[in-house]
Amino acid sequence: MLSNFKVPKNLIPTDPRFGSGPSLVPMEYVKKLYDTHHELLGTSHRKLPIRNLVKEVQEGFRKYFQIPSDYSVVLGNGGATFLFDAIALGIVQEKVTHFTCGEFSEKWFKASKLCPFIKAEQVKVEYGEGINGKDVADSDLICVTLNETSTGVQLSELPRVHEGALLAVDATSGAGQVPCDISKTDIFYFSPQKVFASDGGLWIAFLSKKARERALKIAEDKSRYVPVIMNWKQAIENSDKNQTYNTPAITTIFYLNEQLKQMNELGYQKIQEMAALKADYIYKWAEEKSYLSCYIKDKKFRSWAVATIDLDDQYSAKEIIKILEEQKVAYNIDGYRNLGRNQLRIALFHNITFDNIKRLTQIISMLIES
Ligand SMILES: Cc1ncc(COP(=O)(O)O)c(C=O)c1O
Repeated sequence: MLSNFKVPKNLIPTDPRFGSGPSLVPMEYVKKLYDTHHELLGTSHRKLPIRNLVKEVQEGFRKYFQIPSDYSVVLGNGGATFLFDAIALGIVQEKVTHFTCGEFSEKWFKASKLCPFIKAEQVKVEYGEGINGKDVADSDLICVTLNETSTGVQLSELPRVHEGALLAVDATSGAGQVPCDISKTDIFYFSPQKVFASDGGLWIAFLSKKARERALKIAEDKSRYVPVIMNWKQAIENSDKNQTYNTPAITTIFYLNEQLKQMNELGYQKIQEMAALKADYIYKWAEEKSYLSCYIKDKKFRSWAVATIDLDDQYSAKEIIKILEEQKVAYNIDGYRNLGRNQLRIALFHNITFDNIKRLTQIISMLIES
């Protein structure tokens, strides 16, 4: 019986957090935050210590992603989901086209669909397939998802859009380790609780000059009702002053900054290479074992950030996950709930080490083969 299986102590990963977000916040960041004592926690976000922290984050992103100098690094509260609505309300002029391939890209489309001022169109593929998106002549915004967290699909290239259109990329679970040239995007946004190893609650968006100008213009349009909290002008002008419009969680910004400093030491290129190696390893493992298979059949769409591995029906993913959780080997590696598959979904985020991925895969193989 699987439930009698005892994981050898020497194989247990040094950290069990393999979930696809929230991700692994290193304990040393928590300790570092504690060591700031009275200097940050409990301080207004309008005061210099916090504004300097926000500035460091903004500059850290500029360096890491080599963001063109005429782009704005904007941030606010509410996470990526908040931007689903804010983009529909304040960036789309008349028509938006969404390319969808899973739960998150669909949620984004559904938010646009509800917006009364615009037309929203969906181009979808079945779950388990990838789609890069393409230009649509009568759309002024094209929306794609860099890494579809529910299915483990990443873009293999960015679509080019026509002169009057903008390209928006939800990069929530891929930003930082999935390849993406920011200069080819107009709105590149994400939450920090994935590769950037922080808590949730914040959104970060890199806006091209064109996107910034359009957002500021629509913010002046009196015929559209946009809730004040979703007004891009507020977000942009506060971010220019290294602030958020309303009070942020300082902890989230602090951890994000620590992670960015670490990632900047290696650089985006190196981190992509490290992610690709982990992805290569885990998909080879799934291909080699007769009782496993890669959910994403087309190799070019297989994610470097979230690996989805199907199990042969004679083994229960649920049962395996339970044993792994009980023995503190791995937490939160269930497949996305609405997909309803017999599946393991393992994050490959930067802080999850190659060695720990190897240990986890070895343990799963031992468990099944024992
Ligand atoms: C691709 C994608 N977009 C959006 C979101 C929503 O992010 P948040 O919960 O920070 O609003 C997630 C969350 O997992 C995601 O994976």
